[in-house]
Amino acid sequence: MALKLDALPGRAIIYEVGPRDGLQNESCTVATDEKVKLIESLAETGLPAIEMTSFVSPKWIPTLADGPEVARRVRRRPGVRYSALVPNRQGLDAALAAGMEEIAVFMSASETHNRRNVNKTIAQTLAAFEELVPAARAKGAAVRAYVSTVYGCPYEGEVDPKKARAIAKRLLELGCFQISLGDTVGVANPSQVERTLALMLEEIPADAIGMHFHDTRGTALANVLVGLSLGISTIDAAAGGLGGCPYAPGAAGNLATEDVVYMLDGMGIETGVDLDKLVDVSAATQRVIGREFPSKVLRATLAVRARARREASH
Ligand code: HMG
Ligand code: MG
Repeated sequence: MALKLDALPGRAIIYEVGPRDGLQNESCTVATDEKVKLIESLAETGLPAIEMTSFVSPKWIPTLADGPEVARRVRRRPGVRYSALVPNRQGLDAALAAGMEEIAVFMSASETHNRRNVNKTIAQTLAAFEELVPAARAKGAAVRAYVSTVYGCPYEGEVDPKKARAIAKRLLELGCFQISLGDTVGVANPSQVERTLALMLEEIPADAIGMHFHDTRGTALANVLVGLSLGISTIDAAAGGLGGCPYAPGAAGNLATEDVVYMLDGMGIETGVDLDKLVDVSAATQRVIGREFPSKVLRATLAVRARARREASH
């Protein structure tokens, strides 16, 4: 199938995962105050959805142990959806107690990654979600779901996309409103994405699919373009390109929000995100984290701004 650029969606929804997928993998400790500030400033850029933290075991992900406090403290901006990652009933109860109205459950399409990430088999995880997802819905929470390692597993290599599709369909049947398909270790290429998403679209509507690409090998933006050409318009991204997965060796950051917003702006696809404000937020956050973020658009914009300041001062 040839890539069709003449019928792309007019609007895309960016689902910001930096405060969760990004910060969960940072080795430095980020103060709770800084996390709250980051989430509140991200909301001011016009992002429509932000995954702010996790309610997982602090023994497994110590960097997000302050999830309940973050969730309680963040001032909600009207019109923005706030979500948090939840693995089990304990996490759901804590998330609801902290005021979360949307959660995201997660599991993998490959056994070994699933076991390493949540200490259960795929069958056990699905069995637990048969209770967890309806329980969350009964409490009024919306439930998104991730299927990880769709395009490849760090332990098992190739993954059968039909297996990923069967899991995604089951999660939708249980009451999840959208399944985000994770390229957890950033191995996917555009041809594989086209084959995999076309297979998904045979049985799952486009608006029930999210695209979650890590940019480990530089293919994330190209993969997003393929998904857009197939009518899928929800894109997970992390400010600055923060991120990774602590149980997937070598996984790098998510696709950078700046990079995807820049591309979509240029192509006339609306996101509602103010790119200049987003660059300000990422610039401030990389100072807090103490390392340069990988986003190309972030680097280029900061370089252009620095040159403009130098020229103005002469
Ligand atoms: P377990 O050790 O099998 O669980 O972990 P357990 O039920 O035996 O509990 C062990 C201890 O953890 C107990 O404490 C529980 O209370 C506590 P203890 O009695 O020993 O003091 N515990 C909890 N504490 C707080 N909140 C909870 C919770 N649950 C148990 N919710 C478990 C099983 C699922 C809990 C664990 O494996 C876990 O937390 N895993 C999370 C791993 C994770 O967060 N990975 C990263 C996110 S996934 C990802 O990044 C991929 C994604 O981005 C998509 C993609 O890129 O593909 C989403
Ligand atoms: Mg991820």
